Amino acid sequence: GMMKELLGLKALEEQIAHEYQLKKVIVVPGDSDQYDWVKKEMGRACVHYLKQHVADQATVAITGGTTVAAVAEMMGSDFQRDDLLFVPARGGIGEEVENQANTICAEMARQTGASYRLLHVPDQLSEDTYSSLISEPSVQSVLHNITSATVVIHGIGEAKTMAKRRGASEEFLQKLTNHEAVAEAFGYYFDHLGDIIHRERTIGLQLEHLNEEKQVIAIAGGSSKSVAITAYLKNRKSTILITDEGAARQMLN
Ligand code: F6P
Repeated sequence: GMMKELLGLKALEEQIAHEYQLKKVIVVPGDSDQYDWVKKEMGRACVHYLKQHVADQATVAITGGTTVAAVAEMMGSDFQRDDLLFVPARGGIGEEVENQANTICAEMARQTGASYRLLHVPDQLSEDTYSSLISEPSVQSVLHNITSATVVIHGIGEAKTMAKRRGASEEFLQKLTNHEAVAEAFGYYFDHLGDIIHRERTIGLQLEHLNEEKQVIAIAGGSSKSVAITAYLKNRKSTILITDEGAARQMLN
């Protein structure tokens, strides 16, 4: 309504934090659906937050996607942290190389002088492959780093958009339609109540690992993602949300 349109960014942040019971909300001006620089501003806001809130020697787990890639891009010369370790949150879930968690992880380490470790596991693991890979000592060792991460940075996407981006079958798209899936994060698909309707079988962080001890930063914007962001946040109360005005205004409608 009229009131919402007049709200300044600070008030928007407060209202969203209150309504969705989030620890902190950062809203950057603009709509990333319309302008690409808005995504970079979300990236910049995330780097600014990290500068003030990431403890010494922390392990930071990250997901893929273009928004998290924008965080890496904004980690310029003023965020030098050779004490940090960057790891991908989960195994590959069907992104182009430049938007894969492994790639972004290496880039974040390059930008900041930090260390990184990669997780070399393919998408869509069969149950057998999953069980044998997970018992590999090298995988176990990275997995240990991943689950002990105290900071997690992840994207949120629209369910259908993400399924298509991953080359999903007609059958899977139909499943999403039948269950009214609207959101995707970490390889999980959610309906509008935030209930999980599908989980990709891959190695790494599972939703149940996102406990109170971790600082979980969700970064997603664009008015087209407001339904997805809203749905995802329904069941997750402790998240820090970095978004843009385009998504934020819709989230209060
Ligand atoms: O595929 C990784 C991922 O983080 C998804 O979980 C999420 O839905 C998507 O990327 C977000 O991508 P983008 O920031 O490009 O919209």
